[in-house]
Amino acid sequence: MIQTVNFKAFGKKYQGKVRDYYIVDDKRILVTTDRISAFDRILGVIPHKGQVLTELSAFWFERSQDIIPNHLLSMPDPNVLIVRDTLPIPIEMVVRGYISGVTNTSVWGSYERGERVIYGLQFPDGLRKNQILPSPIITPTTKADANAGHDERLTKDEIIKKKIVPSGIYKQMERAALALYARGSRIAARHGLILVDTKYEFGLTRDGTLMLIDEIHTPDSSRFWIKETYNLKFSCGDEPENFDKEFLRIWYAKRGYKGDGRPPQMPESLIQKVSQRYIGVYEKLTGKKFVKRRGKIDTKKITENLVSVDLLPA
Ligand SMILES: Nc1ncnc2c1ncn2[C@@H]1O[C@H](COP(=O)(O)OP(=O)(O)OP(=O)(O)O)[C@@H](O)[C@H]1O
Ligand SMILES: [Mg+2]
Repeated sequence: MIQTVNFKAFGKKYQGKVRDYYIVDDKRILVTTDRISAFDRILGVIPHKGQVLTELSAFWFERSQDIIPNHLLSMPDPNVLIVRDTLPIPIEMVVRGYISGVTNTSVWGSYERGERVIYGLQFPDGLRKNQILPSPIITPTTKADANAGHDERLTKDEIIKKKIVPSGIYKQMERAALALYARGSRIAARHGLILVDTKYEFGLTRDGTLMLIDEIHTPDSSRFWIKETYNLKFSCGDEPENFDKEFLRIWYAKRGYKGDGRPPQMPESLIQKVSQRYIGVYEKLTGKKFVKRRGKIDTKKITENLVSVDLLPA
């Protein structure tokens, strides 16, 4: 399992909750570890999770570059991407196709309390929980710093007024986010999954080009439901069959854990179930069998790739 890495050759190690990374000139060596987070906390490690996230993101980056350029330059290892280092835009672009959710930033929570203007958007009366929305919506949040609290809701007006992003760039982000969601939904549907909601991050290169960064359409950034049973479940008023890590959140919630204090320890059976779920999402979405990595991350290979991407046209 990959809990963390320590590559001496690439300078200072930076860490997010899930990724370790190094910055080398205008590139980032993005190592996706097996750490799992929920409630903005690291809860443990899940076998093969980092590889699933890396390979799945690479799969989607390739299938979305006609919509917007992305940061991916090279994949020297099943857990490592060499990406363009950008100035990250401090907004998470959340796209939702359904009215749903369990967290405090969820749209359903507000709607159920009677609100009809949520994230500055007008909602019609009469929606039921988990219903498909008339069209997908963007509900942006701030991107909280590593240890500084939770993501907060934003509206488009606030983003423009507070000059978090120039309005021209924000418009490009909106257009890309909706097109990416449409593409993701269509491919997921072909493989029997509903892409319920997802989150995109964007960054600016030194020459001012907007690009898609971080990860895309993974079980960490997205929620999935099983398409086949959705209609029946929805019409009976039952919860859809989820195919993401929602059951992990439910496991913690049942034990009264909501992100404060020391998290309860995951039992081995749960860890295995989560691992299988991540692999299952990968296999369904890509239609390929997941092949587990062998051996350790080879830093020589990373160095070679760093050199070869330098030779790529900018
Ligand atoms: N190409 C890129 N340029 C700049 N930053 C990037 C790029 N790709 C990813 N990132 C950032 O690198 C970090 C990846 O680490 P990870 O996904 O573990 O972080 P996280 O825990 O989700 O985020 P946070 O920064 O909120 O703790 C994120 O902060 C992400 O925004
Ligand atoms: Mg992240």
